[in-house]
Amino acid sequence: MGQTESRREFLANLTMAATVIPGMGLGAGFVFRYLIPSRQHPTSEVFIESLRRFEVGASRLFPQVLGNDLIAVRVADVEVKVFSSICTHLGCHIQWDPTAGNFLCPCHMGRFDTNGKVLSGPPPAPLISFPVRIEGQNIFVSVPVKEA
Ligand code: FES
Repeated sequence: MGQTESRREFLANLTMAATVIPGMGLGAGFVFRYLIPSRQHPTSEVFIESLRRFEVGASRLFPQVLGNDLIAVRVADVEVKVFSSICTHLGCHIQWDPTAGNFLCPCHMGRFDTNGKVLSGPPPAPLISFPVRIEGQNIFVSVPVKEA
């Protein structure tokens, strides 16, 4: 009897360890990736949009810009912010909430402000932001080159 319970306990502990330990490693790797940016990719500046076609308060998605999924918001007349559209929680795509004036992750209701800072919900880190340069009417962003 005692041996059966001991075996059950052992198997239960083994199952829990086999589930929890890889999960913790996966989660830690995900957070680590966002905290320490990759140095493996060179960056490149890319034209993404014209101010003429991008009204103040609006947002645009730019999928697969050199391998990066981007979301941009025009916060002022000559100020555009660009972030990775990948949520720092579990990797869902965020979207712009024009009513609230911030970004929403529909998966677990994480919210980020227009600086990428977490406002609420489970995301452990701010959105990854990318440098923006505006020249005349043209908006450029510098992103890591993940694919040619
Ligand atoms: S994946 Fe974005 S809040 Fe969970």
